[in-house]
Amino acid sequence: MSTSMTTRALKRPPPTKPREFEWRDQDYKFLAALLHEKTGIVLNENKKEMMYGRLVRRLRKLNIKSFGDYCNYLQGPEGEKELSFTLNSITTNTTNFFREMHHFDYLRDIILPPVRQQLDRNARHHFRVWSAGCSSGQEPYSIAMVMDHILGSRSQNCKILATDLDSNMLSHAKSGHYAPEVCRKTIPRPYLSSYTHNIRDKTDDLVAMKDGIRKHIAFKQLNLLHDWPMTGKFDVIFCRNVMIYFDQETQDKLVRRYADCLKPDGILFIGHSESLLSASDIYKCEGKTTYRLLS
Ligand SMILES: C[S@@+](CC[C@H](N)C(=O)[O-])C[C@H]1O[C@@H](n2cnc3c(N)ncnc32)[C@H](O)[C@@H]1O
Repeated sequence: MSTSMTTRALKRPPPTKPREFEWRDQDYKFLAALLHEKTGIVLNENKKEMMYGRLVRRLRKLNIKSFGDYCNYLQGPEGEKELSFTLNSITTNTTNFFREMHHFDYLRDIILPPVRQQLDRNARHHFRVWSAGCSSGQEPYSIAMVMDHILGSRSQNCKILATDLDSNMLSHAKSGHYAPEVCRKTIPRPYLSSYTHNIRDKTDDLVAMKDGIRKHIAFKQLNLLHDWPMTGKFDVIFCRNVMIYFDQETQDKLVRRYADCLKPDGILFIGHSESLLSASDIYKCEGKTTYRLLS
C-alpha cells in the first residue's frame, strides 16, 4: 500500500454509529427552550450531544421510541410529573467538599470570629447561611464543619438552609453519605476525624456526616426562579457555580434578589467563573468572588 493511500485511509472520518433514537434539531430546541423557561439554564447548540446522552436512558425506561415522542409526552397529561425527571437529568451537579477553599478560609477567619464574640455576649444571637444550589450537599456540610469548628457549642442558633432544584441531589444530600476516597482527598484531616464516621451500607464502605453536623442544615427543594418562601435575612449566601448556567438577565435579577435577603453587611460568595460587575452599585468586592452588601 502506498503512503498516500495509508494517509487517506487514516484521514477518513470514522463511520458514525446510527442513533438508537431519532434526535432532530426541533426536539433539541423544544427541550432547551423548556429547560430555559423552567430553570433559567441556557443550553447552546454545543450541548446537543450532552442532552441526548443524559436523556437516552429515560426514553428506554419509558419505552418511548423517539425524542419527538418524548417531547409530545412532556406536553401530555404525564408531562408535569415527567418534567422533574427531565430537569434532574439535565442539571449539572458537579460539586465537592471545600470547593474554592478561599471562601471557607474567609468564613473561618473573617466572618465567624465576630459572630463568636456576639454569641458570647448574647447566646440568643442568630447566624444564618443559605447554600443556594447546594447539589448533593458537600457545600453546606463544608460550611457546617467550619461553623462548628469556630463556634463549638455556641452554634445552636446557627442554621444553614441548603436548597436545590434537583430532587435526586437533595436526597443524596440528606443522606449525608459519601464515597470515602473523595472525602479523604477533599475534607481536611481534622474535620474528617471530628465530623464524619465510617459506615457500611449493604456492600459499600461510606463516610457519613455525624449528627452534630447534620443538625445545623435544613435541606429544601427550591427553584431559584420561583418565589422564595423564606422569612428572615441571611448573614451569608453561597450561590456558587449556579448562575453561570443562566442568561445575563436571570443572573442580574438573582443577585438583586439576594441583596434583599441579606442582612446589612451580609456576604455573597459566587463561583470562580461568575461575576457581579452588573451589581457594583449594591455589592462591594471584598476579595476573590467574595462580595459584601453595601449599606
Ligand atoms: C454545579 S452545581 C453547584 C454546586 C455547589 N454550589 C458548588 O459550587 O459546588 C449547580 C446546582 O445548581 C442547581 N440549579 C440549577 N438551576 C437551578 C434553579 N433554577 N434553581 C435551583 N437550583 C438550580 C443544579 O441542580 C445543581 O445542583
